[in-house]
Amino acid sequence: KRVAVLFGGISAEREVSLATGRQVIAALRTAGYEVLAIEVGADLGAVIAALTPAPDAVFNALHGRFGEDGTIQGVLDYMGIPYTHSGVRASAMAMDKSVAKAAFAAAGLPLAQHRIVPRDELAEADPLPRPYVLKPVNEGSSVGVHIIRHGDNRRADIARDWPFGDTVMAEEYIPGRELTVAVLDGRALAVTEIRSDGFYDYTAKYAEGGSRHDVPARVTQEITARAKDVAVAAHHALGCRGASRADFRYDDETDRLVLLEVNTQPGLTPTSLVPEQAAYCGIDFPALCAWMVEHAAC
Ligand code: DAL
Ligand code: MG
Repeated sequence: KRVAVLFGGISAEREVSLATGRQVIAALRTAGYEVLAIEVGADLGAVIAALTPAPDAVFNALHGRFGEDGTIQGVLDYMGIPYTHSGVRASAMAMDKSVAKAAFAAAGLPLAQHRIVPRDELAEADPLPRPYVLKPVNEGSSVGVHIIRHGDNRRADIARDWPFGDTVMAEEYIPGRELTVAVLDGRALAVTEIRSDGFYDYTAKYAEGGSRHDVPARVTQEITARAKDVAVAAHHALGCRGASRADFRYDDETDRLVLLEVNTQPGLTPTSLVPEQAAYCGIDFPALCAWMVEHAAC
């Protein structure tokens, strides 16, 4: 089978995608596929030309804008080439955190209190009681995320210099622990706890040793089951396909588990969480990538 791997892209997560892509290309070759590596840049015409005549499937290793938000998915639908991960609608919904949260709320899933606020309103006043989190409505990998605690006076500056559009998502800060659950084939793989010194930011995510991962998380059976159930329900609430990953906060003091988001193009870098959970379940990385290719659709 001939598989084209799309990686790179022009989003804020380009570097992450280059790392995802390199791992995937090597793994697919190990799994016996003929691989066409297509590094995506600003020229969509070049990508379309590279995909013509068509491969049997596309492995979408892109993250962020144009790669995770339904744009490239629409191009591939139009070209009739099956691709890995979610389709146009689920991708677009997941990438817009306000739309995703509305779908999760409609499905009765546990969320943090949140508001979408215009930048100029944020410049004037706190949108929520402190502490709260500010994040772009549609970025990943913690790009542009700020935690605003008591005594922090950066709010107006952040609002003024905000490079991610006219609105900002403000979300209640949930103290406690960071959990994540990969969903593959409509089933939750495992629960991982991510332990980092402080905020699990971009550096903690991708630097070697930037965070420690406990698979399985040392939480009760009940929390493990609850997190898995919510992850699967969230995957279905958006209509995701293939692999996704749901991120949570868990406050043990109040036993509150909160769904933060679903990633439809979860990272597959050497420090990423989905490959680790798959390995824990006995699925090595080449087998995981092969599974994705065999379940490609359009
Ligand atoms: N946005 C990054 C790639 C992730 O969710 O893994
Ligand atoms: Mg994300």
